[in-house]
Amino acid sequence: MNLHITDILRHKRDGLPLTTAEIQHFVRGVTDRTITDAQASALLMAIFLNGLNPQELTDLTTAMRLSGEVFDAGPLGTFTIDKHSTGGVGDKTSLLIAPTLAAAGLASPTPAGVPGICVPMISGRSLGHTGGTLDKLETIPGFNTQFNLQQFFDTLKTCGASLIGQTPTLVPADRILYGLRDHTSTVESPNLITASIMSKKLAEDLNALVLDVKTGSGAFMRDYADSKHLANLMVQTGTLAGTRTVALLTAMEEPLGRFSGNWIEVWECIDIMQGRVHDMSEDLVVLTDVLSGWMLHLAGKADDPQAGARLSMQLRESGAAYQAWLKIVAAHGGDTSIFHDPAAFHKPTATRTLKAETSGYLASMDCTEVGWAVQRLGAGRLKPGAPVSAHAGLEMHIKLGEKVEPNQPLVTFFTEDESLLAEPYEMLRATLHFTPTPPTIQPLIREVITAP
Ligand code: URA
Repeated sequence: MNLHITDILRHKRDGLPLTTAEIQHFVRGVTDRTITDAQASALLMAIFLNGLNPQELTDLTTAMRLSGEVFDAGPLGTFTIDKHSTGGVGDKTSLLIAPTLAAAGLASPTPAGVPGICVPMISGRSLGHTGGTLDKLETIPGFNTQFNLQQFFDTLKTCGASLIGQTPTLVPADRILYGLRDHTSTVESPNLITASIMSKKLAEDLNALVLDVKTGSGAFMRDYADSKHLANLMVQTGTLAGTRTVALLTAMEEPLGRFSGNWIEVWECIDIMQGRVHDMSEDLVVLTDVLSGWMLHLAGKADDPQAGARLSMQLRESGAAYQAWLKIVAAHGGDTSIFHDPAAFHKPTATRTLKAETSGYLASMDCTEVGWAVQRLGAGRLKPGAPVSAHAGLEMHIKLGEKVEPNQPLVTFFTEDESLLAEPYEMLRATLHFTPTPPTIQPLIREVITAP
């Protein structure tokens, strides 16, 4: 029986579930452009309003995943695992987790000599108020994130991890649908976010996936119940697709770690991997070990996630993660000589420090505002494809719940264009709220969602 997009639209509009064949027809038509943008947008809005049942969501995710080339990790004969964050401020755990897992994989090769664990990490660029792993990595001179799938495969085989951008042929349906969502106010749909993220992650051919679902003032989903709903949908979709999937709901109420920007985030990670953990980086290290701990547990290297977290700490403190990092960066063409003195590579042309006016406890901030301040210093882009500043960003000197005295430094701003300093300075001054008594602070790890 022939399928017609107008019938499919009517079914979803009237609240009927779509069949697998109807969803496949839709995604095929979007990808080969036989379905018009108007028709595709109409279905996106119908999905936004009427939702999808678990079978429809799985069908949509699968059809999108298969809309282009998919990575085939089979010939590696290894355990493949990745971590995905829904996006935050100062969130640089990927730069620590990939080498940590790679170190564990390099230490336990398969009989064919391939690392026993591989992390095929396909990452994104800065989006809205959140930073992007590719923009951070590309501040390392020579680092190439635009590998084809063969180069990706070869790097995984020798290094145990590779971090690249989405190729033009991988999940083309998402590129088209995401563009339409951006123009039709249909981005904030838990079903559409799940299909978009999971189609790309599952195209990496993963045995397991750990999701860091952010919640709070710096997350795309601020409300706890909404974040939890999204986490449940992603775990359900990954599990139904045959990938062991776990989601951690983590607080994004303040920037993670010490720095937020591009090179300065890489610098913070190098310091940590070289054994220098700044007080402001403690939360970053804790979250990294918890996420890596889950990954090492799912990969069979630890009996439980707690033992995995201890192994993650050992891999970092022994220097094994740093050795794996050097190997990965070199394989991507990056200049590792700058890691000898990462502070010296930080060259903003203007800086300014915000200081406390009165004494008090830092009680809250709108972390999305902080993210926008980072982007407006030059770390983000005003339009797609525009370059980002390597050296722009900010350094937090205080965490939520800590006490300050008048004149104590709160935030230092860095930029390569002095005219960009004033607005972010005022944004931070307005958004940091102090109280006379200690506030209640949310724990960093709010909840872990595993498959039923
Ligand atoms: N990131 C994605 O890749 N897709 C979404 O829909 C939201 C965030």
